[in-house]
Amino acid sequence: MINRESKQKEFIKQYYEKRIDDLIGKMTLEEKVGQLVQISPSIFGAFGLTFDETIEKLINGEITPAEFEALERNYREDEIRQGTLGCMGGVHGAEKSNELQKIAVEESRLGIPILFGLDVIHGYRTIFPIPLAEACSFDIEKIKESARIAAKEASAAGLHWTFAPMVDISRDPRWGRVAEGAGEDPYLGSVIAKARVEGFQGESLDNPESILACAKHFAGYGAPDGGRDYNTVDMSLQTLHDVYLPPFKAAAEAGVGTFMSAFNDLNGIPCTVNKYLLTDVLREKFGFNGFVVSDANSIPEVVVHGYAEDNKAASKKALNAGLDMDMSQGTYRNELPELVKEGDILEEVLDEAVRRVLRVKFLLGLFDNPYRTDAKKEEKTLLCKEHLEAARDISRRSIVLLKNENNALPLKKDLKKIAVVGPLAENAAEMLGTWSHTGNPSDVVTIISGIKAAVSTETEILYAEGCKITGEECIDFEGAVRVAKESDVIIAVVGENSDMSGEAASRIDINLPGKQEELLKELRKIGKPLIVVLINGRPLTIPWEAENVDALVEAWQLGTQSGNAIADVLFGDYNPSGKLVATFPYSVGQVPIYYNNPMTGRPAGKIKFTSKYIDGPAEPLYPFGFGLSYTTFKYENLSILSAENKIGDTVAVKVYVTNTGEVSGEEVVQLYVSDVVASRVRPVKELKSFEKVLLQPKECKTIIFKLNTKDLGFHDENMNYVVEPGLFKVYVGTNSKECLEGEFTIVALD
Ligand code: BGC
Repeated sequence: MINRESKQKEFIKQYYEKRIDDLIGKMTLEEKVGQLVQISPSIFGAFGLTFDETIEKLINGEITPAEFEALERNYREDEIRQGTLGCMGGVHGAEKSNELQKIAVEESRLGIPILFGLDVIHGYRTIFPIPLAEACSFDIEKIKESARIAAKEASAAGLHWTFAPMVDISRDPRWGRVAEGAGEDPYLGSVIAKARVEGFQGESLDNPESILACAKHFAGYGAPDGGRDYNTVDMSLQTLHDVYLPPFKAAAEAGVGTFMSAFNDLNGIPCTVNKYLLTDVLREKFGFNGFVVSDANSIPEVVVHGYAEDNKAASKKALNAGLDMDMSQGTYRNELPELVKEGDILEEVLDEAVRRVLRVKFLLGLFDNPYRTDAKKEEKTLLCKEHLEAARDISRRSIVLLKNENNALPLKKDLKKIAVVGPLAENAAEMLGTWSHTGNPSDVVTIISGIKAAVSTETEILYAEGCKITGEECIDFEGAVRVAKESDVIIAVVGENSDMSGEAASRIDINLPGKQEELLKELRKIGKPLIVVLINGRPLTIPWEAENVDALVEAWQLGTQSGNAIADVLFGDYNPSGKLVATFPYSVGQVPIYYNNPMTGRPAGKIKFTSKYIDGPAEPLYPFGFGLSYTTFKYENLSILSAENKIGDTVAVKVYVTNTGEVSGEEVVQLYVSDVVASRVRPVKELKSFEKVLLQPKECKTIIFKLNTKDLGFHDENMNYVVEPGLFKVYVGTNSKECLEGEFTIVALD
């Protein structure tokens, strides 16, 4: 059966290739270039601003999503009719997209359907946790399901393509876009990249509920100097391949249909025109055969980088490097025809890019089924019960319990009075996080509403805002203190605005902004149990909170179901199981800080001349993989079933994990490896496997990890991937710091 299916697929592919050849044979130069153009509708009278500037206003909250939607647009119908616009960004809604598609299919000369793309980063209308949060669940099936639901909703709204997943590794929480990725670890990042691609694309792209995914931003974008967005990136090729590229490779292997190039320059060459990345690595090494889109406006920015004299030179470099589609400004449309006519770009190179775009349109089934949805389907799908339930579940799984002194949590549901204070307690919009413009704050369950729904009808909830998220104004500490004094327990909800993370939102300081910490200090003085819930898009520096409050709940920005999910954890309906995927620094001065740092010759120790600081700790506040539960887990008897192994062998690592507490709970059992002596300095440890297990009270489970020794290599001095024989240490534990240890060797092949 499988064989027949794959033969059928092969046949269909060949049939498509013939149709593509046929089409390309009929296309004019302008029509070909049109397939490589992605532009959004222009907006008339939008405060006299360009589309991008208007988007910025929307993102900054200066105009509301409703105001934005209401602006009159030019949908470029003439360009569609002329066959010179192959792809549109910023169009969604079943009715509108079908209307435009009809023009493309019925009124353009060749009837080539349009591709509609948008940033659907963590949900379309049902907004899921920001990707960083979701990664903390370590729950790969749920992450896949979240992407699948995003695909169902987005496709019902007429979209074919999401500019996600962002698979950039980042070790720098100043960089606002950490919110959009899966954290600092290449292995976890790869597993999640695969899950998200599979979720978006489903088993087959021509399923009308599937959308095309896009692995972005290729590459190194998560490592800008100083953590400042768009800034330069300079790193060894070994670090690039060992740390930053694995999630991209995993996405390619999972069959991702598109890649997006990054804004930054990498080792002196802008990624938009980087042939090494776009052709040598992507096509030749990874075997990727989809298409590559530029990031918004990045082709003309090559001129600003000082790497091309004008847009024409930039376009020539970009297409020749392997960049197929131009997002945003129509630079290819303006420049490519002349470049081809003058012989600066070979027509074969242009045809190849067109072929890649058309191939994806065929794979999506758009030639045979250009209208994949309608208004009825859209209405039925968005925010449906099943999606909301799934969002609540993954949201509570994304929460990380950082501190819980004297079992301050979970709270009883029949307390008399609970004070819920802080600027984020009753807020809806900020719960949605970055890239949530298709969501709607009115769908959000706020934290107060979630708590009210969870407690007994007798319990009184007292609310005071206390202060704003940022700035010095509107301080109502007295109000907060008053309600806190009256209550049995204080829940303080503090953190960041949605737009303090995400694109162009790097921060110099990553502490709690505004007067929020001062508010917490006032509340602490009252002496009642103080539970702090953090709403934020990046690791924060919170040493005072870690030291002084009773319980600390890292809830991130969880989206539509925020309040319900947080209440589930606060009142023990869900036992928290999330683990940090990004190190929490003690101070911003420690950044970049990450658990898998290369071994230094002078590891931090008691004596002065070791790798540390004179004015603060070298250790992070909370390490990678850290997260508490309402129960406790005991790790015992780590054993390695084969002490000596050849390259290619599987090493089995066994450990017993017992739930030693009173309630059932899930634990993410983590396995790390270090290569003790190697031809390049290797990380102190690297995550190589994990398993999330559910344990009943007193239950013990045997966990057996199977490590393939082939996965324990790295890129050597000559950029060959090698697994070197020798001693390896294995660490298994509840986070990257607290582990049992064992070892094995890899012996040379005879
Ligand atoms: C971002 C991309 C995004 C694109 C389209 C750019 O500014 O870097 O991640 O997909 O805009 O919205």
